[in-house]
Amino acid sequence: MRRRFLAGNWKMHLTKNEALRLVDALAGPVAERPDVDVAVCPPFVYLDAVARRLEGRPLAVGAQNVSDKPEGAFTGEVSAGMLADIGCRYVIVGHSERRQFFGEDDAWVLRKAQAALAAGLTPIICLGETLAQRQAGETAQVIRRQFNGSVAELPADQAAQIVIAYEPVWAIGTGVVATAEQAEEVHADLRNLLAERYNPEVAQTVRILYGGSVKPDNAESLLTQPNVDGALVGGASLQATSFLGILAAVPKH
Ligand code: PGA
Repeated sequence: MRRRFLAGNWKMHLTKNEALRLVDALAGPVAERPDVDVAVCPPFVYLDAVARRLEGRPLAVGAQNVSDKPEGAFTGEVSAGMLADIGCRYVIVGHSERRQFFGEDDAWVLRKAQAALAAGLTPIICLGETLAQRQAGETAQVIRRQFNGSVAELPADQAAQIVIAYEPVWAIGTGVVATAEQAEEVHADLRNLLAERYNPEVAQTVRILYGGSVKPDNAESLLTQPNVDGALVGGASLQATSFLGILAAVPKH
């Protein structure tokens, strides 16, 4: 049975004090759901302070991005080893905002995932189609292409350690959430791709999160789908009440 996983992607929001207040408010209620893995992904500059605040507590810390290089003269970059060094456990790679605004392509996303794995971090590899691609009936091909480019090159032992986030671009930050059926269809496709490329065991192990306008009132219908193992939450992760409302909607096993 895959453990459910809820991750909050704070993007470029909050002050340091707000960040610490938020994790203080989350830590207690999260401890009451030991059946769910929960992580927050603050901006780089707050990672160390947040990780220290959460030391020994069951709320994990992830970064929103990482360099694909281990070290060197790469001004402004942060390596996976540095993230591991300060207590990060996860890193989001290939978020659609990075693909769209910072030119990241599948090959680059793959290298970032490899760098994360080499440093002992769990990459949360994001993929998803645009509205135009969905309307053109290309969703399945786009997902297959992104999977082939940013996941399928990993060997099976590494693939078994990743988390995948299906985030339809048209649902991110728009308030337009995918229906449970739309999400389940792509998640089931992704699990088939994992089984095809690797084996049934890897396919049954990898957690596939849904992301895009997840809120407390739509979380339950998404999170009760057989292939939806959790959520990557943007806007609703910035306030304790809404993030905890989503946590409350995670079905108990
Ligand atoms: P959203 O963002 O929940 O604000 O739509 C999700 C994401 O980008 O990960």
